[in-house]
Amino acid sequence: MSRFGDPTAMVLAREPVRPPRGNEVVVRVTHASLGATDVLARRGGYVLQPAPGFITGYDFVGELVTESAVSVALGLRVGSRVVAALPRMGAHATFVTVAPTLLVALPPTLDPAAAAVLPLDGVTAAHALDLAGPGRSILVQGASGAVGMLAAQLALRSGRTVVGTASARSADAIGDLGIPLIDYSAPDWPARVREAAEGPVDAAIDHTGSPRVRETLATDGMLVRTAFAGRSGHERADAVRGFARAARNRSERICSAPLFIATRRMAYRRLLASLLADVADGGLRTAEPTLFPLAEVWEAQRAAESAPPGRKVVLTMV
Ligand SMILES: NC(=O)c1ccc[n+]([C@@H]2O[C@H](COP(=O)([O-])OP(=O)(O)OC[C@H]3O[C@@H](n4cnc5c(N)ncnc54)[C@H](OP(=O)(O)O)[C@@H]3O)[C@@H](O)[C@H]2O)c1
Repeated sequence: MSRFGDPTAMVLAREPVRPPRGNEVVVRVTHASLGATDVLARRGGYVLQPAPGFITGYDFVGELVTESAVSVALGLRVGSRVVAALPRMGAHATFVTVAPTLLVALPPTLDPAAAAVLPLDGVTAAHALDLAGPGRSILVQGASGAVGMLAAQLALRSGRTVVGTASARSADAIGDLGIPLIDYSAPDWPARVREAAEGPVDAAIDHTGSPRVRETLATDGMLVRTAFAGRSGHERADAVRGFARAARNRSERICSAPLFIATRRMAYRRLLASLLADVADGGLRTAEPTLFPLAEVWEAQRAAESAPPGRKVVLTMV
C-alpha cells in the first residue's frame, strides 16, 4: 500500500523475491486471508504498522519452493503444502521468504481456502483463552466475528459457560454455536450478560476497549484485550492509549498474536497444527471464505470492510 486511506491506497507492485538467509525458505503463496486487521492497517489505524509502504496480510497457505536443513527436519520439503501466521504483516504476496519454524503442514483433507481463514484468528482466540485463565465462565465480545466465533467454540469445548455479544443481525450466523448471544447495542447489555451467565463472569475477551466490560465481571475477573476500537480518525492513538492503560492494570491482559508468534515459536506451531487438525476433522468451525483473486485486491478490500457475519475474505494467488 502506498498511503493510508480507502481501498484505492492499495498498489500491486512487482518486486524481486527476497533470497533466503540461513535456514529461511521461499513459499509460493496460494491463499491469504484479508480481515479486520488488514482493513485497519490500510486506514492507518493499526498500532503495529505505523507507516505506509508495507504489505498487508498476516497469514497464508502456500507451497514450498525451496527447502533448508531446518525445514527438512520439520518434515517440510519442496512441494509441501504449508500454512502460517506471521509475526509481522507481508502475506499478501505471490512469494514470501520466511523462517521454516513459522510453517506447519496443511492437513491433506483440508481445503486450502478454509485453512487460510484460520491461522491469525485461531492463534488469537486460543491465546486469548489461555490468558483468560481457567475460570468457569467467560464473555466473548463479538462472538459472531472471525476471532470471536473461534474463541467461543474453544471456550465451550473447554467446559466453560460461554456468553457472547453481537448485533441482532449476526444471530443467524452463529445461532447454532450453542451460546446465548446478547445484543451489544442494548443499553443494559452487561446486566444481560450476567443474567445469561447466571452471575458475573470469571473472564472476558474484548476487542472494543469498552470500560463497561468490567460490569460483566466478577471482582477478581480477568479481562483480556485483543484490540481497542478508536474514534474515527484517531484509531491508532486511541488503541495505543488503551493498550498502555491495560498494561498498567493487574486484572487486564493484552493478547497479541504477532507477539506470541514472534516469541513462543514452538508453542505457536503446536497450537496452529492442532487448530488445523480440528478444522480438518470438523471439530472447529471457521468463518466461510469469500475468494477474490489478488488482481482484484481493491474489490477484496471493499468486501472485507463489510463482510457479512460468519464470512472472511481470502485472496487467491493461483
Ligand atoms: N490481538 C490480536 O493479535 C488480534 C488478532 C486478530 C484480530 N485482532 C483484532 O480483533 C478484532 C476483531 O477481529 P475479527 O477479525 O474477529 O473482526 P470481525 O470478523 O469484523 O468481527 C467483529 C465482531 O465484533 C462485533 N462487534 C462490533 N461492534 C461491537 C461492540 N460495540 N461490542 C461488541 N461486539 C461488537 C461484531 O458483531 P456484528 O458483526 O454483529 O456487529 C463482530 O462479531 C479486530 O479489531 C482485529 O483487528 C486482534
